[in-house]
Amino acid sequence: MHFKSQLLIIFTICSTIGWSQNYEAKVDSLMNLMTLQEKIGQTVMYSGRWDQTGPIVGTDNGRYIREGNLGAMLNAFTVKGTRDLQKIAVEETRLGIPLLFGYDVIHGHRTIFPINLALSASWDLKMVEESSRIAAEEASAEGLHWTFAPMVDLSREPRWGRISEGAGEDVYLGSQMAKAYIKGFQGDDLSKSNTILACAKHYVAYGAAQAGRDYHTVNMGEGELRNVYLPPFKAAVDAGVETFMSAFNELNGVPTSGNKFTLRDILRDEWKFKGFVVSDYTSINELVPHGFAKDSIDAARIGMNAGVDMDMVGKLYHHFLEDLVKEGKVPEAYVNDACRRILLAKFKLGLFDDPYRYIDQDRENNTKYKDEFLTKAREIAAASSVLLQNKNEALPLSKDIKKIAFIGPLVKDEYDIIGNWAAKGDRNGKAVSIFEGISEYLNPNHILYAKGCEILKDDESGFEEAISISKQADAIVLVMGEGHHMSGEAASRTNLKIPGIQPELIKKIREANPNKKITLVLMNGRPLNLSDEVNLVDAILEIWFPGTMGGAATADLLFGKVNPSGKLTVTFPRNVGQVPIYYNMKNTGRPIPDDNPKEDYKSNYIDVPNTPLFVFGHGLSYTTFNYSDFKLSSQTLNSKGTIEASVTVTNTGSMDGHEIVQLYIHDKVASVTRPIKELKGFQKINLKKGESKTVTFKISVEDLKFYNSKMEYGVEPGEFEIAIAPSSDFRFEHTFKLLD
Ligand code: GLC
Repeated sequence: MHFKSQLLIIFTICSTIGWSQNYEAKVDSLMNLMTLQEKIGQTVMYSGRWDQTGPIVGTDNGRYIREGNLGAMLNAFTVKGTRDLQKIAVEETRLGIPLLFGYDVIHGHRTIFPINLALSASWDLKMVEESSRIAAEEASAEGLHWTFAPMVDLSREPRWGRISEGAGEDVYLGSQMAKAYIKGFQGDDLSKSNTILACAKHYVAYGAAQAGRDYHTVNMGEGELRNVYLPPFKAAVDAGVETFMSAFNELNGVPTSGNKFTLRDILRDEWKFKGFVVSDYTSINELVPHGFAKDSIDAARIGMNAGVDMDMVGKLYHHFLEDLVKEGKVPEAYVNDACRRILLAKFKLGLFDDPYRYIDQDRENNTKYKDEFLTKAREIAAASSVLLQNKNEALPLSKDIKKIAFIGPLVKDEYDIIGNWAAKGDRNGKAVSIFEGISEYLNPNHILYAKGCEILKDDESGFEEAISISKQADAIVLVMGEGHHMSGEAASRTNLKIPGIQPELIKKIREANPNKKITLVLMNGRPLNLSDEVNLVDAILEIWFPGTMGGAATADLLFGKVNPSGKLTVTFPRNVGQVPIYYNMKNTGRPIPDDNPKEDYKSNYIDVPNTPLFVFGHGLSYTTFNYSDFKLSSQTLNSKGTIEASVTVTNTGSMDGHEIVQLYIHDKVASVTRPIKELKGFQKINLKKGESKTVTFKISVEDLKFYNSKMEYGVEPGEFEIAIAPSSDFRFEHTFKLLD
């Protein structure tokens, strides 16, 4: 009897006697039928080349699939594309095992949301979940089962281009964001065809690359690894993420795609992660240039033995694993484990019940760019923007202003606005530019426009026209920043200034209009050095790369239809020399005294203050909020109990608005030094003008735990400072005691 019929009988029996949820049994039955070569085939992923996300490697996918040498593909989507490939796997192979289709659906698939650094600035977990839910709807409608997201790499490195893909510098916020993305992508039932596997990446500490140079070396103590860089990944495991992606970087001399300590000891043994680990794009091959494997065969051996279950386009598992197993250099049990985890994921997705369940042309046609998706993208883009500065109440703009000059290379942009890693987001006309957005608010003859210059070219020939129209205007809006390719992967910068001659143009516009209100709208994928611009313009609105509806959302903010509410999740330095700089550094033995900042022999610079330009948690509103009446339910906390901290927040301005209320603690003395402050909670509240609300946070010992020098995770009795504040820029005034 043909194997497939055997398989069918097994699955029918499983389903009829109610084993439908007992995937383990089904996987075991299937594994018993598989040859070693077929099991290895499940650990192989090649690129469909519909998109390029790394050095293209030539493959003959059809042949590999027929031979049973291919278990998953990336960069292959659309109903038509995936059907053709799935048909080969299911109907032309010995066992008919379906393929898994993965893609980088990072901040949207067709409808593109703000880049992830922007999404994190919304501090809105519901919105983040909604954005990934919509992304999953669109991606799954095009045959995709799996996204290589969320990127949960914490980073304090604005030079690193991939800071744009994460949730910023904070452990707690990054952990909460990871859970929200995973919930959105995976939903609560993976057997539904509008849910997709999520992937926590890049495991681990990729965001700590030396000097912010991508793929560069990472060195850190185990304490820093466990207290700062691992927790968002642990949060992903706790949230039920189905896959992990190992990273490119080495960690303390051991590349993370060959690192048994992180991949087996921590991820498997400590965290009990049951999903599968995919390498990053040829990251197993890169063990050779790392100087950790002597050749490709050795790299394949190390990768599988360390715990990487699937080889992303590297070809190594496909070509070398069978011999390595037969030579006893790789235990067959490791290959069986990897194959089992991958098959389990396919069962959970329902691909064995119906390999074509994600393939429905009508659904694909009716799902892309749904109006409700675009509406949500507009709302989220507005909520992800951060009003950094608003002198002289330059914003919001009045619709009655006679002439507004819009100047800059990004005013009419529809290409960069969706940012990097924008999947199948359209860069040729679908995205709403700022110019289109403001045209919804202004009569065309009230709008003056000049590009002024390019993002990077040093051609000043456009300056004259720009300066001329600026002089004719009653108000000026500059739209400037980076190209989308200037952040993301392989896009590190040593200079954090607004690129090109844009700063020059800003200066000349100000010189020509000394008393006019000037707003700078920024499109960028990292913290920038705005030390000059803060003194040249009145308002600065950070919109990051706001996505498909970015121009509409920005107009809603500029004209006050939406009140800005975003807050920074990364520190903006005064200059690159301060980097790394983040809100919760250590106090050192020579902190600058508050009462004498100029005191000598303290831990400071002689040319700039220690403080950044804009702090973590900073973000203005068109209204104002007052914090009062801080209360603690008790001055002491014991190991079993909780205490409550509360504050009253009042909207003291003239406009309704959202406020992100933040809870911070500081462990004053411990067996290892602790950060000067740590975010431990946040709540985003909506207050009508004049309205007050009491915001309460519950604190337990769980919130106070850390790894000590012996790598023991726990708390130590003593005094803690506590504060509820609008940003990380505050001084503690309250304490409580943790009792023994
Ligand atoms: C890239 C990136 C990773 C991405 C993968 C697949 O090199 O590092 O984030 O998911 O390859 O495109």
